[in-house]
Amino acid sequence: MSRLLITGGTGYIGSHSAVALSKTGHQVVLYDNLSNSNRTILQSLGLIVGHHMSFVEGDVRDTKLLISTLTSHNIDAVIHFAGLKAVGESVEKPVDYYANNVQGAISLLQAMQFAQVKTLVFSSSATVYGEPRYLPLNESHSTIATNPYGRSKLHVEEMLADIAASDADWRIACLRYFNPVGAHESGLIGENPSGIPNNLMPYLAQVATGQIPELSVFGDDYPTTDGTGVRDFIHVMDLAEGHILALTYLSRNTGWHAVNLGTGKGYSVLDMIQAFEKASGRQVPYKIAPRRAGDVAICYSDPKKASELLKWRAARTLDDMCASTWRFHQFRRLSVES
Ligand code: NAD
Ligand code: UD1
Repeated sequence: MSRLLITGGTGYIGSHSAVALSKTGHQVVLYDNLSNSNRTILQSLGLIVGHHMSFVEGDVRDTKLLISTLTSHNIDAVIHFAGLKAVGESVEKPVDYYANNVQGAISLLQAMQFAQVKTLVFSSSATVYGEPRYLPLNESHSTIATNPYGRSKLHVEEMLADIAASDADWRIACLRYFNPVGAHESGLIGENPSGIPNNLMPYLAQVATGQIPELSVFGDDYPTTDGTGVRDFIHVMDLAEGHILALTYLSRNTGWHAVNLGTGKGYSVLDMIQAFEKASGRQVPYKIAPRRAGDVAICYSDPKKASELLKWRAARTLDDMCASTWRFHQFRRLSVES
């Protein structure tokens, strides 16, 4: 059992990980500036885990507040989810992305160094691989991000490698997530983007509920079996469990480690539409639209290192991903209507 600080803890992946970590006996303190989440989630988290979760409202660039949080809660390790994550927005507002993601990480590292907390799990992304030169993508693939969001992740990864090289006491895992989707089985928490979603799964859900009339499939002329893009979608609770095992690994190993969290299996956009129609019992109207700038044809992971190092493997199916997403959206509609 450890005492953990979870930055970005009220966000999508942070909240699901907080549940998984809490259920395995870890004590968690959530830290978030609520720029892309809402404090009402604390109630849902309390219902799921059966007790109130500690929450500190704050920005990761507030080093003083981080130091006092780390020391007053006797924190053993940090999981750093806080950051901005929209690729398109990062191209328009690069300064915001470097300030939040890079400056935020520097502030956190300064606070951790001061408080002598030297175990960190960092949310990285498959986006650090850029255009795949071969598939499946393993951790030895070259890293060359193609947008400010991706570069901010890469800068932080490199900083972390330098810190681990400078001080043998650090224990750092950079987890490179593929495409996290789905929701907790309770339907009480899930991905709830404000405005029109950028990503496929929340968009699919909003078309199925009738909030958006149809889905645009970005390109049907890729060199894939049905011409649409292929991605490695991973259930957010599998991803959450990856963090538990990463912490276990770090409790026994020092140094810097980059590990993919993906299933190793790719599904196309049309596969996703079909699976979502099956899970929801609703039709998902769609049209074929031009390719989206910056998209790659196919991206999926080699999950071997995660299996060998962390003893972690994704267990949930595509049907689980779609069914849990649908359950969350139905609950949300019910709570909005009541
Ligand atoms: P999210 O936006 O739902 O959660 C991020 C949380 O961080 C939000 O609650 C937000 O309010 C908070 N936050 C942002 N800037 C902050 C700051 N400066 N100080 C304090 N809190 C701040 O996003 P998510 O999908 O849960 O992603 C979590 C992490 O995983 C991010 O670092 C993201 O880049 C990474 N990631 C996400 C995906 C994905 O598809 N969701 C894929 C790869 C990597
Ligand atoms: C995107 C980001 C990536 C980030 C990931 C988080 C880009 C270029 N990449 O990845 O950096 O880590 O989100 O999950 O933004 N699609 C449609 N119609 C839609 C939405 C998506 O056809 O309305 C297609 C896309 O063209 C793609 C697939 O669905 O082929 C998945 O898209 P998305 O969910 O946005 O994820 P990525 O593009 O893989």
